[in-house]
Amino acid sequence: MTSGNTMIYPGTFDPLTKGHLDIIERAARLCDRLYVCVMYNPAKQTVFTPEERAGMAKRCVEAAGIDNVMIDSYPGLLVDYMKQHEARAVVRGLRSESDLRYEQEMATANRILYDQYEVVFLASRPELSYTSSSIVREVASLGGDISGMVPEAIQAEVEARFKEDSYAQQQ
Ligand code: COA
Repeated sequence: MTSGNTMIYPGTFDPLTKGHLDIIERAARLCDRLYVCVMYNPAKQTVFTPEERAGMAKRCVEAAGIDNVMIDSYPGLLVDYMKQHEARAVVRGLRSESDLRYEQEMATANRILYDQYEVVFLASRPELSYTSSSIVREVASLGGDISGMVPEAIQAEVEARFKEDSYAQQQ
């Protein structure tokens, strides 16, 4: 239970990207407390476990020196997490028109589940609007340079996972 102006930034974060970190930094300035919550999206098969994704998010936030951000993970519904934390709103980043369509669907469903559901959209920085977790995974799995896409704090960990995977496949 928390009080004050709390917001939640939910996502799969598989892994967290520079685009996500930019949204975290900007959202943290709009509230007293921001929960970055690693959540479950049944439509996605993830490379990193929830614990690994949360750990990477924590390292990025610590390295960026943002102190009103908490990292968490939750296996249930976003609206239930929101109620538990008495959060005023959820934050989501918008990169493109297709993000908007997807976000509108989710917002509508969440509002049906919880009539006090509110979402704030932050426009992605243009230079980061082509970054996505799946592009990071694809580039890393092919041994490419991901330094422009993921925060430095987790670059080595992401690269190491894909090196392990390609080594395992060769055995
Ligand atoms: N910068 C870079 N990439 C961004 C981005 C940004 N600012 N904003 C979104 N993305 C990308 C991500 O990289 C990711 O890319 P990928 O699909 O290539 O992997 C994609 O957009 C979206 O991922 P992400 O922001 O990590 O979250 P999500 O859309 O998978 O999150 C949940 C969806 C977790 C919020 C939603 O499934 C949820 O609420 N789950 C909980 C269960 C629930 O309540 N379900 C009912 C929902 S109606």
